Parts: sequence; C-alpha cells; structure tokens
Amino acid sequence: MLQSGFIQIYHKNTNAICAELNAGLLAPQACISPKFLYDGLGSKLFAAICELPEYYPTRTEALIFEQYRAEIARSTGRGSTLIDLGAGNCEKAASLFSALQPVQYVPVDISVDFLREAVECLRYRYPQIRVTALGMDFSSALELPDAVRSDKRLFFYPGSSIGNFTPEEAAAFLGRVRDACRADGGLLIGVDLIKDEGLLYEAYDDAIGLTAAFNLNMLQHLNRLLGTNFKPRDWRHVCQFNASESRIELHLEALRSVTVTWDDGERRFSQGERIHTENSYKYTPEKFLQLLERAGFAHVNRWSDPHGWFMLCHAQAV
Ligand code: AVJ
Repeated sequence: MLQSGFIQIYHKNTNAICAELNAGLLAPQACISPKFLYDGLGSKLFAAICELPEYYPTRTEALIFEQYRAEIARSTGRGSTLIDLGAGNCEKAASLFSALQPVQYVPVDISVDFLREAVECLRYRYPQIRVTALGMDFSSALELPDAVRSDKRLFFYPGSSIGNFTPEEAAAFLGRVRDACRADGGLLIGVDLIKDEGLLYEAYDDAIGLTAAFNLNMLQHLNRLLGTNFKPRDWRHVCQFNASESRIELHLEALRSVTVTWDDGERRFSQGERIHTENSYKYTPEKFLQLLERAGFAHVNRWSDPHGWFMLCHAQAV
C-alpha cells in the first residue's frame, strides 16, 4: 500500500471566517467571497453545472485536454507532484493521470467533506498513485505541508477559477503559486476568454436554474457558518455582464425588505438590494499571458478550442 493521507487545515467557525463574513455583510455594498459557494451541496451543484449544455467552460476545456493530451504531457513532463487547486471531484486531474503519470497527487479544496469523498473513490480507482489530500483555503496563502514533495511540482488550476480573482489579485495569487513551484515547477492553468455576451448569460443563468440554486445555496451555508437567518425564498439569483471590467457578476437580490440577524450583527436589506457573490473574469489571451509573465512565469505553451472560447496554458517557474 502507498502512503496516503488527508490533511485538514481548514476548519469552519474559526474567528477569521466569521470576521470575513461579518465585514462582507456589513459593507455598504454587501459582498461574500465565492469560496463560500462551496459547502457539500454547493460542490455537488457545481459538478452538476459542469454537465449543463449551456456551461461551455468544462466541456471546452475537456476537449482541449483530449485533443492535445500528448503535447501537454510533453510540455509539463511526466512524474510530477501534481497539485490540484480547487480539485472538487478530482475528475479533471484524473482524466490526465495516464498522460502525466504523477508520482504524487495533491488535491486541495476548501469543501473538506466533499473532497474526502472524492479522494476515497480515487484511491480505489488509482491505487498506484500516492494521494495527499489537503482540506484548505488556498486563496490568501499557499502554505503546503511537508508531506507535499517539493521537486517537480506541477500546479493545476483548471476551469478558469482564476477568474474569481480581480486581475490584481490574480497577479498576486499567481506570484504565490510561482514561489511554491520552487526550482523546477510549473503551472497548468485554464482561463476563460472574452466571447459573445449572450453565451455568457446562458452559461451563468441556465434554463433549469442550477446556477440560481448554486448561488442561493450560499445563504444556507452562511446560516451554518455564521448563524445568520437568511431565507433563500427572500432572494433571487442575478447574473450580469460588466463589460468595463470584462467579468460576469453573480449577485443575490432581496425580493422584499428583509432583516438578517446573527450572533453579533444585523443588516437590513431593502427590496432590490444585492449581495455580490462572484466575479468571473474573462480574458484576452494577451492580457492573460501578461499576467503570467508579471507573476514570474515564462516559456508559456498554450492551447485553445476552435471557437477560441477557452485557453489552457502551461508555464514554467523561472
Ligand atoms: C469555478 C469559478 C470557474 O466562474 O465559471 C459557475 C464558477 N459560477 N457558474 C465560473 C461558476 C457560476 C466558475 N468557476
């Protein structure tokens, strides 16, 4: 048997989380980080969104993986320590195992229980790979425990999760990834590109309401994390394209005037008032390549789909 483990660094109900949520709810324009979309149900809803016909990023990226598997492997090399940031159900990484042949797989996710389950399946399906799962929030610091091998690190950040950060935050985050790469590491990253607005609206406000459920579920997660008394029925999902910022925004909008209370706080929302829950930035290839270079990456190889909707990049830490 290979030595494998689960290391839990993220714990609910810590003071830092409550302070962050508190500040977000009390801000003039209320906002909550999209990382709080991912409780157990949220992770399942996101996995379901990835199966929607309207949600092009996952299937477009999967197509790129499939079509350029050999080239990607040539670029990244084989036998790396594959560190999967926001691994979720680990399916994207698993689809690359045979091509990349990692010596260690390190799925990282804030949704601890969901990750635990995903990893159990994975160990069963790939008994030859050493799996070190990390239940942690990697958005503001990227401190990896000693159990993660330090040579040939390949960070994997697919699906355009980088779009949740503002470009400034993304540059800082990529800089931290670069530092964690050590000497011979690299990054395999997926990024969503600017495209027709109509396609974006369909993808982020789908016909059967999965994205709405995903967004509204954050309120139930907050009720558990902070002890708020949000009623999802009082709110509606709003998706909006902000052209000047080149980003899709998700909001929750109060359908009527509501007062939300929790342990050490209270906030009245008038009808139509919103909580900003997610940004999903869309890049031009040029702008994103600049970001990688600013963060200290070089020798970028990139692949795209025929529509030019999505881009996958492999960059080396220099
Ligand atoms: C996981 C951040 C890449 O921005 O498309 C999907 C999340 N939100 N539908 C995205 C999401 C609504 C997704 N990322």
